[in-house]
Amino acid sequence: MYSSRIVYTGSYVPERIVTNDELSKIVDTNDEWISSRTGIKKRHVSEGENASDLATKTANAIIERGNINPLDIELIIVATVSSDYSTPSTACVVQANIGAKNAVAFDITAACSGFVYALSVADKFIKTGVYKNVMVIGTEVLSKLTDWTDRTTCVLFGDGSAGAFVERSESGGIIAEDIGSDGKKGMSLTVNHILASNVFNGMEKEAPSCINMDGKAVFQFATRQVPKSINKIIEETKISIDDIKYVVPHQANYRIIEVISRKTGIPMDKFYINIENYANTSSATIPIALDEMVQAGMLERGDKILITGFGGGLTWGSMLIEW
Ligand code: UT7
Repeated sequence: MYSSRIVYTGSYVPERIVTNDELSKIVDTNDEWISSRTGIKKRHVSEGENASDLATKTANAIIERGNINPLDIELIIVATVSSDYSTPSTACVVQANIGAKNAVAFDITAACSGFVYALSVADKFIKTGVYKNVMVIGTEVLSKLTDWTDRTTCVLFGDGSAGAFVERSESGGIIAEDIGSDGKKGMSLTVNHILASNVFNGMEKEAPSCINMDGKAVFQFATRQVPKSINKIIEETKISIDDIKYVVPHQANYRIIEVISRKTGIPMDKFYINIENYANTSSATIPIALDEMVQAGMLERGDKILITGFGGGLTWGSMLIEW
């Protein structure tokens, strides 16, 4: 069986930065509350670019870095909850924009676990020999789905995009994974509920709703489920914590990461954290972190890293990767 290895990464975030102080001018909040409860200091917010625009810039960054011929790309998977359209998929828009006309393209929806889920799907296509390469992108413009009058959610999210080019390899790459879903808890985080109104049933057409979250329920879920998921991978692979160079967690809340560290016994200094600069960009947090780490020269071939995501669905997903 083949292995799937991340060979290039790329990212793109909108230029406009909104600080906590700026947010405190539009809702009743303050830098102290946001920083101490979440670790967030600022976020990037779109000035009009949509999810596919961000994803296209990410794809082009990857293409440039890897000197990839777009015609050689075999599959494009985009993870997003904020796509421009229900159809065409964001992946199809990206395919057209980058001229990857030989690729198959589709989106998947697994919210903040989206990048891990997409990587898992890419891995299956590669391991079974169907494709030799896959472009995997997480992209979100959450600012268009945010209720900017709700201080309990609007301070938490940001816009951004990042991705990875995954290739067939003889060894290393994705070593183990644990992905899961708990649909019974799904209503604790919903986005864009669209009612089944039509001309025959007399239901009023309502505007789709914004991000709606029971923060405490999601916090509890994450701090229970993610340590279990990481521990499962550690037990299955028998890897020692010393041999894990970094954990790259979904960046939703600094305090969630502290609990994960405590419950898994993995020291905090192994966790890569950049939530202060981006807030929660859902499917984009993990690949943005990976791209930053690559650009900073923090990852060498052979390093073992753990990535772990959690969020809407509710869903979770962890992977042990040999870089
Ligand atoms: O990507 C995956 C999805 N999301 C998550 O993983 C998020 C998980 N949940 C969390 O990170 C945390 O639950 C939050 C950051 C959302 C909330 O933190 P918390 O410590 O659970 O705060 P809380 O909801 O208990 O609110 C405490 C207080 C409340 O006031 P009272 O009732 O104690 O008077 C809130 O009304 O803080 C108030 N509050 C705020 N105050 C200032 C809530 N939001 C704000 C705000 N600024 N932005």
